[in-house]
Amino acid sequence: MKVLITRKLPRVAIDLLLKNNIAVQVHDSDEPIKFRELVRYGKDADGILSLLTDRIDEKIINRLEKCKVIANYAVGYNNINTKAAKAKNIIVTNTPDILTDATADLTLALLLSVCRRVIESEMFTRSNKFTGWQPELFLGIELKGKTLGVVGAGRIGRAVAKRAAAFGMNIIYFNKSKKTEFELELNAQKVSLTKLIKKSDFVSLHLPLNSETQNLINSEKLELLKPNAVIINTARGEIIDENYLIAMLKKKRIFGAGFDVYQNEPKVNKQLLKLNNVVLLPHIGSATFEARSAMAELAAKNIINVLKGLPPITPVEL
Ligand code: GLV
Ligand code: GLV
Repeated sequence: MKVLITRKLPRVAIDLLLKNNIAVQVHDSDEPIKFRELVRYGKDADGILSLLTDRIDEKIINRLEKCKVIANYAVGYNNINTKAAKAKNIIVTNTPDILTDATADLTLALLLSVCRRVIESEMFTRSNKFTGWQPELFLGIELKGKTLGVVGAGRIGRAVAKRAAAFGMNIIYFNKSKKTEFELELNAQKVSLTKLIKKSDFVSLHLPLNSETQNLINSEKLELLKPNAVIINTARGEIIDENYLIAMLKKKRIFGAGFDVYQNEPKVNKQLLKLNNVVLLPHIGSATFEARSAMAELAAKNIINVLKGLPPITPVEL
């Protein structure tokens, strides 16, 4: 049996597969695998360990001759055409839970960075502009007492809320279903998306990307943001109307924004690069040693289970 791993990743995945007598072919590159290579090497693979940067569309899936499992090295799986996979009886798995804390930490890091202008002031210091303490140098926003609107109260959204509560923030959330335990634990209140955007000082996105969430935060919704609002996106760029948000940031219509993801990733809109009220990260939400190594292990275990005829550990809902 053979598994294709589409990019170099923590060694633990390879070791686990080898230990289970599964041959491993690694596309050993720092660049995403190309369509042609994916077809060439994936064609006779029994399983594929894919990354969120690999577009596994219907065209590719239909050319896989032996594949039983596609294990995505991410919690999001919008890069995979799950319908086409299902039609070919291919199981798709993801890596939930183990990257929740890493992503929630990074969300707070972005929020703090935007509110306290950490990057802007760090660049100021680095460029030798610090000439002494000043009463109004880089004034920012305090977190305590502010309202955080959590859009999507899944694992990551709730972990962000928990951290926010520790900073003394009030939590409101938008979610399909009511999360009673979460409400009780953090005194969180479920509201409509419109109300959330109107009432929040900070808005943080924690939804998967799908046809329902694409452009969910459109121009009309963005217009409802408070004048000093901060918006943070560690989910997927396509959930927000990025061009409209950029126009608002340019006009200083809101205080700022933190991005870990972009609409045309890996392209970052050039206009964003010129703004100083944004913090721009290169999609590193889950980039901790702990999370990435656990993700590699879980992805490998999902593959091993399926190839041994056992149920996958974390299949995605198809
Ligand atoms: C990262 O964006 C992930 O979906 O794991
Ligand atoms: C992902 O793990 C989520 O539920 O937010």
